[in-house]
Amino acid sequence: MLEIQNLKAGYDKKVIVEVPQFNLLPGEHCLILGASGSGKTTLLSTVSGLLSPIAGDIVLDSNNYNDLYGAAMDEFRGRHIGIIYQTLHMVSALTVLDNLLLAQYAAGLPQDKKKAVHLLEHLGIADKKADKPETLSQGQQQRVAIARATINNPKIIVGDEPTSALDDNACETVMGLLLQLASSSNACLVIATHDQRIKRHFHKQITLGGAQ
Ligand SMILES: Nc1ncnc2c1ncn2[C@@H]1O[C@H](COP(=O)(O)OP(=O)(O)O)[C@@H](O)[C@H]1O
Ligand SMILES: [Mg+2]
Repeated sequence: MLEIQNLKAGYDKKVIVEVPQFNLLPGEHCLILGASGSGKTTLLSTVSGLLSPIAGDIVLDSNNYNDLYGAAMDEFRGRHIGIIYQTLHMVSALTVLDNLLLAQYAAGLPQDKKKAVHLLEHLGIADKKADKPETLSQGQQQRVAIARATINNPKIIVGDEPTSALDDNACETVMGLLLQLASSSNACLVIATHDQRIKRHFHKQITLGGAQ
């Protein structure tokens, strides 16, 4: 499903992270570990198609990122890659529900309100659907982020420290929901973290070295 070969990731020509070879099968989970500044976000941004590889290949379900440019990459990302950030990345003027409908629209998919409400119900936050995201607790906001990242049934779900700001209970809830949603659509799950609490959920790990 996800294949990485001879990847050099970074900014302009400055290589921050190198991954010689890495594969994930559908439904497999992987943790990216490393100290602050080791390049976790850089690698995730590259796997998410937000940052072009300096060299090497990332192939998701037979689509090589090197062949996807601009609007084509944006649509591919919206359709097939679900991204969860550490802090809220929602459109604050829109309600929780409208943020989900926007994610469908941005991916070129029909807006399916029933599906969005059903997902919010599944995540236990349907009563928040008409609220603005920033009025929710951090744990609730992360559940909205999970809803937005998974609404289009992506092939891969990418999380950048999605549990770091959460207390133990919310951390367990969020991790459980992420694992369950990933497995229900057989999606790969790639999570970067320094959060020791979630290590036990993952069998595959990439550990990045110190800052360059
Ligand atoms: N937009 C950017 N432009 C140039 N360098 C960056 C940028 N973002 C991060 N870096 C550098 O890349 C390195 C790794 O950062 P990052 O990927 O954010 O690490 P982590 O997520 O593990 O804390 C750091 O040295 C950082 O200064
Ligand atoms: Mg980071």
